[in-house]
Amino acid sequence: MAGKVFFSVTMSLDGFIAPGSLGELMGRQWMELQRWVFPTRFFRENLKLGGGGEEGRDNDVARETFERTGASVMGKRMFDAGEQMWPEEAPFHTPVFVVTHEERDPWERPGGTTFHFVDDGIQTALDQARHAAGDRDVRIAGGGATILEYVNAGLVDEFSIALSPVLFGSGIRLFEGVDAGRVALEPVRAEPTQRVTHLTYAVRER
Ligand SMILES: NC(=O)c1ccc[n+]([C@@H]2O[C@H](COP(=O)([O-])OP(=O)(O)OC[C@H]3O[C@@H](n4cnc5c(N)ncnc54)[C@H](OP(=O)(O)O)[C@@H]3O)[C@@H](O)[C@H]2O)c1
Repeated sequence: MAGKVFFSVTMSLDGFIAPGSLGELMGRQWMELQRWVFPTRFFRENLKLGGGGEEGRDNDVARETFERTGASVMGKRMFDAGEQMWPEEAPFHTPVFVVTHEERDPWERPGGTTFHFVDDGIQTALDQARHAAGDRDVRIAGGGATILEYVNAGLVDEFSIALSPVLFGSGIRLFEGVDAGRVALEPVRAEPTQRVTHLTYAVRER
């Protein structure tokens, strides 16, 4: 049975998922935004940062999100940022399909992540990701522009947001340009922790 198509991001309380420029990406705002995930046991394990780390609901959410994902789709700007920041063993450990206008050969990393560059549109990237994922889910990993394309095309079944208690004021807005007349949301779960509120919605056609 085919899995779901979902996204899962961390968002500031005022609706941003990243600072405006790549230069700021590893800066204070990003650290504050993602503060819930860095101390978790799963994050430390996945990035090979050593043992230890916190257990609890934040850790479970991070682990469950990873485990349900059989393949990911991402935009080229997220890839470009990650290419500079991910360790040699990129943290996906599954195939990743990068939607781009650029032609590029697949890039295989140790640990099971291979980046495939798809210059044939979002539907082709999703078809390839579904095939690679088998009966697991496909994660639209980001960033904002790519998630929005999939949402507006009616291709997302469900999404989760870790709503972080920070204000950005400007940056990359998650739902800028959403086709609000088409997309309806059904609440699935809301789980507050000490650091964020985990919100999950099913996406329905209006
Ligand atoms: N807070 C979070 O949880 C979270 C999660 C993920 C990402 N992010 C952040 O999101 C940011 C990136 O988001 P973004 O909105 O700037 O960009 P993006 O969605 O990552 O990438 C957009 C780019 O992807 C390519 N693309 C997208 N759709 C395409 C299509 N249909 N056909 C061909 N190419 C296509 C184009 O690049 P080319 O024309 O150059 O090929 C386009 O400029 C990063 O800063 C990242 O850190 C945050």
